[in-house]
Amino acid sequence: MFPDFRMRRLRRTKVRAMIRETSLTTRDLVYPMFVDERSTRPVPIKSMPGQFRFPIASIADEVRAVSDLDIPAIILFGIPSHKDEIGSSAYDPDGIIQRAVRAIKDEVDIVVITDVCLCEYMTHGHCGVVENEKVLNDPTLDILAKTAVSHAEAGADIVAPSGMMDGTVDAIRTALDDDGFSDTIIMSYAVKYASAFYAPFREAAESGYAFGDRTTYQMDPANSDEALREVSLDIQEGADIILIKPALPYLDIIYRVKTEFGIPLAAYNVSGEYAMVKAAAEKGWLDEKTAVMESLLAVKRAGADLILTYFAKEIVEWLR
Ligand code: PBG
Repeated sequence: MFPDFRMRRLRRTKVRAMIRETSLTTRDLVYPMFVDERSTRPVPIKSMPGQFRFPIASIADEVRAVSDLDIPAIILFGIPSHKDEIGSSAYDPDGIIQRAVRAIKDEVDIVVITDVCLCEYMTHGHCGVVENEKVLNDPTLDILAKTAVSHAEAGADIVAPSGMMDGTVDAIRTALDDDGFSDTIIMSYAVKYASAFYAPFREAAESGYAFGDRTTYQMDPANSDEALREVSLDIQEGADIILIKPALPYLDIIYRVKTEFGIPLAAYNVSGEYAMVKAAAEKGWLDEKTAVMESLLAVKRAGADLILTYFAKEIVEWLR
């Protein structure tokens, strides 16, 4: 009891930093990047100030700049010039992602993660095959498996399925192993909530949908036990890393999953989380650097090992 115990004693001097339990470091970061098959120069993404869609011609140079900052990994999203009803550009050996991965791997030593999803490649913008405005699970799996294999063939180190179709990890693991890619890592977006915070991404990746919404496959924000079931199934199907998304509104989920499963865990600080901070900082309503460092530290403290964030490059500068 006070005055025997004085909690402020440890907060006063350099000792404050010595007893810090959690830290955010460069090696925790994954930088998401967009590569656009139709553009010839970097196109700024309006709702994500400071982020661009890069043309294939400059993607390797842009990734080199990321690698020069010691950021260990990028995750790539593609905007194809051709969309159809079967997502054929997603598994085309000369598709935008496959070409980008080859270009990057030829020139830069960095971990390349590819997002495996069909929404950017479908005319209707949904993450699976659609019939009568219904998103079909099982016919989608084969396309996702082909896509993952084509990414691995191009040189991707990690494939990251994000479409929330049941059985995806099993389908991808089996296909990768059958084709000799047993070392390719699967980072599964096991827990992806139907979230308002993806809105800027849909502008960035042109993956807005023609009808309905994603609530028939993405999770209800009200549920947390369901997240544990999703993770448990994906681990059984062969996921190496589990991803939870969005990050900040779901710190309790990150904590529960890490505590329950102790598996390598990634959290995606999504486009809307980025846009909110940028917008408030532009207005002078908060300090960008301290707000970002505090919130991403919280994501680590909750239990994430990795953070996918559009702030990655700035964080490295701030850490220096
Ligand atoms: C789907 C996908 C989405 C994001 C990553 N992969 C959007 C969605 O499900 O609508 C969102 C990422 C972000 O908001 O930063 N392929």
